[in-house]
Amino acid sequence: MSSLRVLIPEEKIQARIRELGAQIDADYPGGGVYLVAILKGAFIFLSDLSRAMKTAARIEFVGISSYGRGKTTSGEVKLTKDLDVSVEGHDVIVVEDIVDSGITLSYLLQVFRQRRPKSLRIATFLDKPERRQRPVKVDYVGFQIPDEFVVGYGLDYAEDYRNLRDVCVLAE
Ligand code: IMP
Ligand code: MG
Repeated sequence: MSSLRVLIPEEKIQARIRELGAQIDADYPGGGVYLVAILKGAFIFLSDLSRAMKTAARIEFVGISSYGRGKTTSGEVKLTKDLDVSVEGHDVIVVEDIVDSGITLSYLLQVFRQRRPKSLRIATFLDKPERRQRPVKVDYVGFQIPDEFVVGYGLDYAEDYRNLRDVCVLAE
């Protein structure tokens, strides 16, 4: 039987996202950024973050597969859904649910740099710095968390638990 323990409650999440929105507003005074969210895990963070900022934003999605159904990365990353638009010459913020090994994001950044955006930054809801295998510079971080497997607020285990309002540790 698996059990859930609340790690970050809803109120704390919402307060932090308001701060991140204000930070992004301060960093893009000219407005007009592309928020590119990685499916599926980032969908709730994207939804709240995009409304916490006043900066005009366009929303795009990319699909990536690396994890399969397990708890650890397969190490293989595949772009399963590419951008529908050109981001050349635009400010881009990649919106991710969690940076773990860093393999997914380092692959995606390499792909995105070839699209020649004006600027490229990363906003991640969660960061597990202890598990990093590839260096990734994250510009906006919601919360740093210890090396535990978490679910909720978009994050899944084998596609379950994404719609929990809190971030919870999933223990066997
Ligand atoms: P990375 O390539 O190892 O950095 O993995 C990033 C991806 O792994 C995230 O987008 C998540 O889909 C998944 N992931 C990593 N840690 C967790 C976790 O604790 N819970 C749920 N998914 C996770
Ligand atoms: Mg996942």
